[in-house]
Amino acid sequence: MSQEKVTIFDTTLRDGEQSAGIGLTTQEKLEIAKQLERLGVDVIEAGFAAASPGDLQAVQKIAAEIRTPKIASLARCYIDDVDKAWEGVKGAARPRLHVFISSSDIQIMNQLRKNPEEVLDIAVASVERAKTYCDDVEFSPMDATRTDPEYLYQMLEAAISAGATTVNIADTVGYIIPSEFAERIEDIKRNVPNIDKAVLSVHCHNDLGLSVANSLAAVKAGVRQVEGCINGLGERAGNASLEEIIMAIETRNDFFDVSTNIDTTQIYRTSRLVSDITGFPVQPNKAIVGANAFRHASGIHQDGVLKDSSTFEIMDPKSIGWPSNSLVLGKLSGRAGLRARLEELGFHLEQEELNEVFESFKELADRKREVTDQDLETLLSNNRRTADIPTVYDLEHVQVSTGDHGVPTATVKIRNAEGEEIIDAATGTGPVDAVYMAINRVIGIENRLTEFRVDSVTEGIDAIGDVTIRIELQGDTFVGRGSDTDIIVASAKAYMNALNRSLAANPNAG
Ligand code: KIV
Ligand code: ZN
Repeated sequence: MSQEKVTIFDTTLRDGEQSAGIGLTTQEKLEIAKQLERLGVDVIEAGFAAASPGDLQAVQKIAAEIRTPKIASLARCYIDDVDKAWEGVKGAARPRLHVFISSSDIQIMNQLRKNPEEVLDIAVASVERAKTYCDDVEFSPMDATRTDPEYLYQMLEAAISAGATTVNIADTVGYIIPSEFAERIEDIKRNVPNIDKAVLSVHCHNDLGLSVANSLAAVKAGVRQVEGCINGLGERAGNASLEEIIMAIETRNDFFDVSTNIDTTQIYRTSRLVSDITGFPVQPNKAIVGANAFRHASGIHQDGVLKDSSTFEIMDPKSIGWPSNSLVLGKLSGRAGLRARLEELGFHLEQEELNEVFESFKELADRKREVTDQDLETLLSNNRRTADIPTVYDLEHVQVSTGDHGVPTATVKIRNAEGEEIIDAATGTGPVDAVYMAINRVIGIENRLTEFRVDSVTEGIDAIGDVTIRIELQGDTFVGRGSDTDIIVASAKAYMNALNRSLAANPNAG
């Protein structure tokens, strides 16, 4: 007998983007949405259209370009919000409107300052408004897990009668415990008379580290839509990690007896792309996608895996698209070889982009004996970082003198939008500081560096260094990334990337 499907609802671009320190451009959101489509998610929540003109524009763009998954916009239970959300998704092949309102006494009394009857009426009116635009309407009672059960049943019943086709039980503050949640779901199924007219969904936050366990307990109890974010991004401690839920359903299919539409071989690439674009690293011991997820350190484990991988591996790394790490390219490789390898990795580039990446590949192959799949992914993201952001200032050269005696000194040559080359120099407490001081002398955007991180893309002394920084200016945070085999150059590129992003958002900053 064929298994029932669980709808995978991705909210990386909405709840994930609400993570403190993430701010994505429309182009970046579109890039993530394209990868989510390849991953095979059923619904992409593209944003919160009423939040800002930028959010609306991103939702519209995704709705226009991504044709297979449903495209949803979030809306508070205000008529104007619902109208804006519709403006966002109306161009989609399969639009969805997602309205939400607080349902717990704590939030109704302390935040909404209304009485429960008023809130119920507002919820119904908003679902009805959404229904005038769109058949597919999702309703979420916010903080549902701390809501009086009788009131929750009443609200769900009223929302479904008003036209909601999905009702989403939000564990907004990550409060519930898995066995308790399973019971709560059973109670909802028993006590909401029209529950069979809607898809029952869950949306779990990770404040107690239980979001995935809660989502899976709900699936076992009969829920047929799960919401979450790639890499567990989201408000505060984040949302349920979609890749973990998907692989739990896949690996323990004997237990869950449900399936998804996901192409699991796209998981690794999706995780990397989201981490790269958001600048949020994936912890090494993270389930499924962490760098150590398939590494065996102890001799006993290594011995077992060499004899038969199933001794210590419950998933085949290939099933999530883990890179083979096979060394395929070197400095003698040509454009055709590069294109072929990139296509094997799933990247299909236009000629112009291939030419750009080939140039960077040649430069890298001159400096690094072995160019691995991870190196190629880094070259691609490097290229994308610069291509997506209008380059107001371009770093042409950076030269540093440093050591344990003497003062670290940097010279930079920067080309501005008018094509003028400006050379300046500065000293600093260390080589990176000196480079940043020199760049500041040329560009002169006042900012505060709030994060600086260097990661190594592969192992070995000739590895590419990947630098992620965050700068703050006028209350906004901008992420910058840069990579190079020289970490000082990578640091300079990351800073230029962050400054160019800030100029793209606010052209008068410089
Ligand atoms: O956490 C939450 O309650 C939400 C809702 C808007 C679904 O994100
Ligand atoms: Zn949420």
